[in-house]
Amino acid sequence: MDRFEKAVVVVQVLVSVVFLVAILGARSNSDIDVPECIPADDLYTEGRVEMLDEHTWQVYYVARMWMFDPMEVEIPVGSEVDIFLTTPDVVHGLNIYEKNVNMMAVPGALNKTTVTFDKPGEYSVLCHEYCGIGHQFMEGKIIVR
Ligand code: CUA
Repeated sequence: MDRFEKAVVVVQVLVSVVFLVAILGARSNSDIDVPECIPADDLYTEGRVEMLDEHTWQVYYVARMWMFDPMEVEIPVGSEVDIFLTTPDVVHGLNIYEKNVNMMAVPGALNKTTVTFDKPGEYSVLCHEYCGIGHQFMEGKIIVR
């Protein structure tokens, strides 16, 4: 390995460490819930909404060409919502801009994040990964009353 190559490798490792520290720092300082990848032993194929109690909900999203299932979710204000996400076809995204939610839907994998909706309103759920000809139609909605 020549000197230039060695320098590139060192810089690359340093940049990776900086990125890792930045992500972990942002997570702890900004109280951001980084989506977690959970074992997909029991992948579901239909979207659904489950109420655990009045202010604790679970939404099981299936992103597919080219819609979210469920398309519309209604929850009461102040709810804490576990969002699960998977897809049977290609890679999609799930973005809720106002809540800083940014998830990937990967075939065969299951992602999860938790969001609290403390303001009433309509939240757009958008696909932010180009997934084919109908990508721009992939929009869901979370209505918080
Ligand atoms: Cu799904 Cu873009």
